[in-house]
Amino acid sequence: MILVTGGAGFIGANFVLDWLAHNDEGIVNVDKLGYAANRQSLATLDGDPRHVFVHGDIADRVLVSALLHEYRPRAVIHLAAESHVDRSIDDPSPFIDNNIVGTFALLESVRAYWQGLPVDQQAAFRWLQVSTDEVYGSLDAGAPAFTEAHRCEPNSPYAASKAAADHLVRAWHHTYGLPALTTRCSNNYGPCQFPEKFIPLLILNALSGKPLPVYGDGLQVRDWLYVGDHCRAIRMVLEAGEVGATYNVGGCDEKTNLAVVEAVCVLLDELLPRAGGGSYREQIEHVADRPGHDRRYAIDAGLLCDRLGWAPQVSFDSGLRKTVEWYLTNPVWVSQATSGAYANWVARQYGSGG
Ligand code: NAD
Ligand code: DAU
Repeated sequence: MILVTGGAGFIGANFVLDWLAHNDEGIVNVDKLGYAANRQSLATLDGDPRHVFVHGDIADRVLVSALLHEYRPRAVIHLAAESHVDRSIDDPSPFIDNNIVGTFALLESVRAYWQGLPVDQQAAFRWLQVSTDEVYGSLDAGAPAFTEAHRCEPNSPYAASKAAADHLVRAWHHTYGLPALTTRCSNNYGPCQFPEKFIPLLILNALSGKPLPVYGDGLQVRDWLYVGDHCRAIRMVLEAGEVGATYNVGGCDEKTNLAVVEAVCVLLDELLPRAGGGSYREQIEHVADRPGHDRRYAIDAGLLCDRLGWAPQVSFDSGLRKTVEWYLTNPVWVSQATSGAYANWVARQYGSGG
């Protein structure tokens, strides 16, 4: 088996579904079911014996140790984290607790288990740290894309917490020999992404007649990757990656935020025209910028492409269409994600009209 953390979140749920669609090796999925988790994302696995879902915290060493000894996984795919930059600016504490202290606790539980394995199983064991391009900081326009050699210069509390977690993993590899690998991925989009993030926020705000908030001048650049391409990269790095190495994962699809909002509006105008006529573009509003907003991310994924034969397969145009269609056809998932505490976040971040 493999153990996945954060498998009820956006990338985690997509990864679990992708993994089980490609092989029969089972998954123990540990998720604390925080605000961004959604069990509905995994509903198609109900009754599937290959998927063991455990509602729990990675920082709970008693629970995690018991799971490791019961299921004896050959690998840990560590995705669990607080993941939203704006929330990390609003309140950094959960980012320190979950992303840094949580990763430390998980590393210690896994180290104890791993050190007790027979030597051949120790060598075959893998920890895969799912990290982000945000640890590298921000790029000037025209600067070459981030390679794995770029130093860590995180700018937000979220990015700093992820960089700290990466450094812990690096140290556990160098000091104790834990066979660890790290992936650093650019902005993901696709089905099951919590609607605090830019693309699903735009889709759902557009449909409910709300403003489409663009921070600052909207000329910040992100390198968008369809989530399925990220999941495939994780599988490939787990199987063939070099222990101790870091692999960048990116879509080679840089877009300004204004280009993204424009593309979402064009698709919605085609798929679900506004009842009162006119384009969804009329709902675009420039709002106050994010403090410390990173201007540009761009990923050089050459190492992953050259060494492991990975390449993104889904273009931004086709991935965005699939994504918009998914949100239009999954009202139950959407209503679960947007009910409850989500409204409080929207009111705090965007004001009562947001
Ligand atoms: P998400 O917020 O949608 O999901 C995170 C999941 O982790 C949630 O289900 C949450 O309940 C769970 N979790 C958080 N703390 C936990 C804890 N202490 N114990 C158990 N479960 C816990 O995030 P996502 O977008 O799916 O991101 C997943 C991972 O990928 C994160 O590590 C993130 O930093 C990284 N990443 C995300 C992106 C992106 O564009 N979304 C890009 C690169 C890397
Ligand atoms: O680059 C990888 C990272 O991508 C991941 O590590 C993070 O977990 C993930 O959240 C994402 O971070 P970003 O801050 O880039 O994503 P977000 O969707 O929050 O914002 C994308 C861009 O859109 C960013 O430049 C901010 C802008 N934005 C976002 C929101 C929510 C707006 O203009 N308006 C908004 O309301």
